[in-house]
Amino acid sequence: MASYILMKHILHVVGARPNFVKAAPVLRAIRKQGLKQTLVHTGQHYDRNMSDVFFTELEIPRPDFNLEVGSGSHASQTAEIMRRFEPVVLEQKPDIVLVYGDVNSTVAAALVCSKLLIPVAHVEAGLRSFDRTMPEEINRIVTDRLSDLLFTPSEDGDRNLIREGVSPSAIRRVGNVMIDSLMRLLPAASACPKNGYPEKFALVTLHRPSNVDNSKSLEEIVRSLTQISSMVDIVFPVHPRTRQRIAEFGINAQRLHLLEPIPYIEFLSLQTRAAVVITDSGGIQEETTYLGVPCLTLRANTERPITVEIGTNILMGEDPTKLPAEVEKIALGKGKKGTIPPLWDGCAGERIARVLASH
Ligand code: UD1
Repeated sequence: MASYILMKHILHVVGARPNFVKAAPVLRAIRKQGLKQTLVHTGQHYDRNMSDVFFTELEIPRPDFNLEVGSGSHASQTAEIMRRFEPVVLEQKPDIVLVYGDVNSTVAAALVCSKLLIPVAHVEAGLRSFDRTMPEEINRIVTDRLSDLLFTPSEDGDRNLIREGVSPSAIRRVGNVMIDSLMRLLPAASACPKNGYPEKFALVTLHRPSNVDNSKSLEEIVRSLTQISSMVDIVFPVHPRTRQRIAEFGINAQRLHLLEPIPYIEFLSLQTRAAVVITDSGGIQEETTYLGVPCLTLRANTERPITVEIGTNILMGEDPTKLPAEVEKIALGKGKKGTIPPLWDGCAGERIARVLASH
C-alpha cells in the first residue's frame, strides 16, 4: 500500500534584534526534524549592527522574504507589517506561523494570521509586566490571545495564561530559547578579544521610551551613571533611539564610553566580564541571571519576575539616583547571588521542534 507523508510547512516571522536571538535555536532544531520552513524578516530592525550581524553570528539562514518596513509610529509600523505580510502568507500557505517575543512584528503577524485562520504559535508566551504603558505588554496580551499554541519559558507564564482563560492544552512549557543561543555561543564569547575595554566596568543598555524619550529622566540617568563612573568605568553600547535622544536633548555624556550597538558574541563576552549590568531590556535580565552577573533593572516592573525571585536581578524602579549606592554594594562583593531557573538548559528550541513535529 502506498504511503506518503505530508511535510509540514512552518513559517517564522522575525523583525527586531531580540527576535533573532530567540528564533535561531528554533530554526536549527526544526531543520533537524526535517520539516519545511520559511523565514520572513519584517525589516523592523534594518541597520547592519541591529540585524545582519545577528544573522551571521547566530547562523540564521538568509530570510526568504524581507518586508523592509523600517521605522515608524507604532500604528504605522504595525499596519505596514500587516499589509506587506498578508500576501506572503497567502502565497506560502504555511501550516503554522511562529512568532517570537513581544515586538510590533510579533503582534502584526499574529493579527494577519488569525484573520486568515492560519494557526499561530507564540514563542515566549505568557510573560506579563501588568503595565500597559509598555507597548510590549499590549503586544504580549494580544499575541497570546490570538495564538493557538503557546510556548512558555517558565511557570509564571503558564499561570498568567491560565488566569486569562487560555486552555491548558494549548500551553507547552518548553524553557527559555534565548538561553539556548547564549549557551551555544558562550565558548565563542569567552574567546572574544578583551582589548579596548577597561579591566573593570559596568555595562549599560537603555532604550525603553519611559527612560529615554523624556529629557528629565534621561538626564537623571546620565547624571547617576556619571557619578558611578568615578567608581567603575561605564561601557554603554547605545541603541539608535537613545543616541538620537541624547543628541536631541543636548545631554553631556562625556564621562561614559558611548559605543555603537555591539554584535551578539561581543556583547555576551562583555556581560560575562561586567562587574554589574544596568539595563532596561527584557532579555538582558535573563542573560545576567543565567551568567550569575548582578543586574540592576531601571524599571518599575518586569515581565520576567523569575529573574528577581531566584536570579541576580534587582528592580530599581524608575529612580536612577538609587543606582550609585547599589553599584557600591556590588563593588564591595555584596551583590545579589542567584540560581538558574528550571528549563533554562539550552534545549528549549528542540522541545519546540518536537511539539511542532507531532502537533
Ligand atoms: C524594539 C521593540 C522592543 C525591543 C527592542 C530591541 C517594539 C514595540 N519594541 O524597540 O521591545 O526591546 O526593539 O532592540 O517592537 N532604529 C534604527 N535602526 C534600526 C532600528 C531602529 O536607527 O535598525 C531607530 C529608529 O529611529 C527607530 C527607533 O530606533 O525609530 C526605534 O526602533 P523600533 O524598532 O521602533 O523600536 P525599538 O526601540 O528598537
